[in-house]
Amino acid sequence: MKQKNLYIFDISTPRQMQLLIKHFSSGLIRMSRKINYPSADRNKTPILEVLQKHIDHTVEGKVLEISSGTGQHLAHFAPNFPKLTFQPTEVETSLFDSIDAYADDVPTKNVKKALFVNVMEDFAQWGLAGDFDYVINVNMIHVTPFSCSIGLFKNVSEALKPKGLLFTYGAYANNGVLEPQSNRDFDKNIRLKDPNCGVRDIQDLVKVAETYGIKLVCIYELPANNKCLVWKKLMENV
Ligand SMILES: C[S@@+](CC[C@H](N)C(=O)[O-])C[C@H]1O[C@@H](n2cnc3c(N)ncnc32)[C@H](O)[C@@H]1O
Repeated sequence: MKQKNLYIFDISTPRQMQLLIKHFSSGLIRMSRKINYPSADRNKTPILEVLQKHIDHTVEGKVLEISSGTGQHLAHFAPNFPKLTFQPTEVETSLFDSIDAYADDVPTKNVKKALFVNVMEDFAQWGLAGDFDYVINVNMIHVTPFSCSIGLFKNVSEALKPKGLLFTYGAYANNGVLEPQSNRDFDKNIRLKDPNCGVRDIQDLVKVAETYGIKLVCIYELPANNKCLVWKKLMENV
């Protein structure tokens, strides 16, 4: 099956595998630069619907994404906000090619090339100006140590303009309660792989955010028991 710049292969039989090799060797198809995370395809529209409630699509502005992954999210969001410029970033440089391939195909041409950003490093090292109107961070907080959440809020407080918004998406506990059972299982699996990682409690994040002058303004319950949190930078950098 071929979508634009993206091939999906069924190689469940030797015949299909042979056909795939034949197509590659004949030059009929080339390896796609785009990587596909099925989870990103599932959550990109619910997240977009939250963004559309908070972002005025008629006004110019700048959006920073931290931990862009494959680049699927910004490619989906950007055409809906043609007056905004989107800057994808990743700590994993092997994902840059996929991010840039998605960006190249955005019809509104408002997604920049991927940049290296490690939330653990100081904002001064990111090579970016602190003039962003919005920051987006999807599914990073629970797969990284808590020090990355601290780094996220600390650096976002410098990346955002006063009154700028941060959107974070993922699974969260709230006031010590993690529902339903599937999220508790998810958390257990993450911690089995790395005890430093795991689903975070919103109240713990609120405490960190407040240290850096960022306030939680909205919690949206989204499909698959995930949440999108909207945070606001209050004043000048603290
Ligand atoms: C579960 S993936 C989510 C990717 C993408 N946002 C998505 O939802 O498809 C977690 C991402 O966090 C990134 N990440 C891990 N540690 C990081 C760090 N210290 N700074 C920035 N990003 C980091 C990983 O490279 C990875 O792309």
